Amino acid sequence: MGNFYGFGYGMHGMRIFVPMTRTRWTPPPGFARKLINWSRHLDRPLPWREEQEPYRIWLSEMLLQQTRAAQAIPYYHRFVEQYPTVQELAQADIAEVLRLWEGLGYYNRAHFLHQTARIVTSTRGGQFPDTYEGLLALPGIGPYTAAAIASFAFGRPHAVVDGNVIRILARLTGLEGDPARPEVRREFQARADTLMGRSDPAAFNQAMMDFGAVQCVPRQPDCPSCPFAGFCMAWNTDRVNAFPAKKTRRTLRHRYFLFLVLKKGSRTWLVRRDRGDVWRGLFTFPLHETDAPVDDPEALARSGWPFLPPMRPMTISGPWEQVLTHQHIHAWILTASFPRTTAIPPEWMAVEIRDLPNFAFPRILRRFLNDPRTSLIP
Ligand code: ADE
Repeated sequence: MGNFYGFGYGMHGMRIFVPMTRTRWTPPPGFARKLINWSRHLDRPLPWREEQEPYRIWLSEMLLQQTRAAQAIPYYHRFVEQYPTVQELAQADIAEVLRLWEGLGYYNRAHFLHQTARIVTSTRGGQFPDTYEGLLALPGIGPYTAAAIASFAFGRPHAVVDGNVIRILARLTGLEGDPARPEVRREFQARADTLMGRSDPAAFNQAMMDFGAVQCVPRQPDCPSCPFAGFCMAWNTDRVNAFPAKKTRRTLRHRYFLFLVLKKGSRTWLVRRDRGDVWRGLFTFPLHETDAPVDDPEALARSGWPFLPPMRPMTISGPWEQVLTHQHIHAWILTASFPRTTAIPPEWMAVEIRDLPNFAFPRILRRFLNDPRTSLIP
């Protein structure tokens, strides 16, 4: 085991800070029971709570990846209404699934959702696997989601471990070290499993999630009201804010996009984003990327789309900004009308402008389309 640090118990039960190679961690007695009790008094209604159906549990967990519960709730209702069963989701067109997903971000999840629905429908008669390992084999299901579904839907004893649980356990048990390191991660998982013990896996996991969202929050937690303050290592050593350890931020990559809204009568053109870049599967107006902020959009349009005849001006709007996980998109949107017919690249799709609301767009373009000043959609 690597040389990372944690608290152990010294003589007379005194807690001491020692390399983990020399200590065994002892769980606080009755932790699971107290945690579950704490969560019973909580007023946090979530529509997937107490849900029994694996399909709905899986759906909620897919929506909740990298997403706060409050943001996921309306999407959950819309998906359940539109696709009451996994079979209906499997039969849906991916474009329609993406349209329903719009605004939630991380669109790979929508593709995985659809793929898994198809696999479960076509190879398993609509039944989800009922084991952690079986779930883990499906697209879009990692260890956290597999543990969540296995416990909520099938009562399997797998503790969920994500950033929230890591923060709780780091504070409570004083475990330091970079959770990106596999041996540290394994130790967090082992401690979470130990704390779960033989308690009700679903109640324990949901209570841990609630505890991270409500009590043991990242900034300024209300420790005096915490039921575990008495044996929280971070609180007892006045180091609550040292956990979670500050991550070195990855630098943001700035990208500069020019979109072209070309109008001909009642129509315009869209392209579909392909794999290997942001917004996979979504629709955008034809896009030209450049490596600096756009100061002369018309010149850039002429160099980006040299096959187009002179366009009639035109409005330019921007920059529109969207910050993704590791990228900052700056977009300019040039609207032009098109005096005569010319050869259009085969991948550009002509669509009726009034149908634009039906396509799944990146948020930045949806904001543009919904802006009253834009007035593109009649
Ligand atoms: N985050 C991931 N799964 C969750 C759940 N079931 N409830 C609340 N937040 C969650």
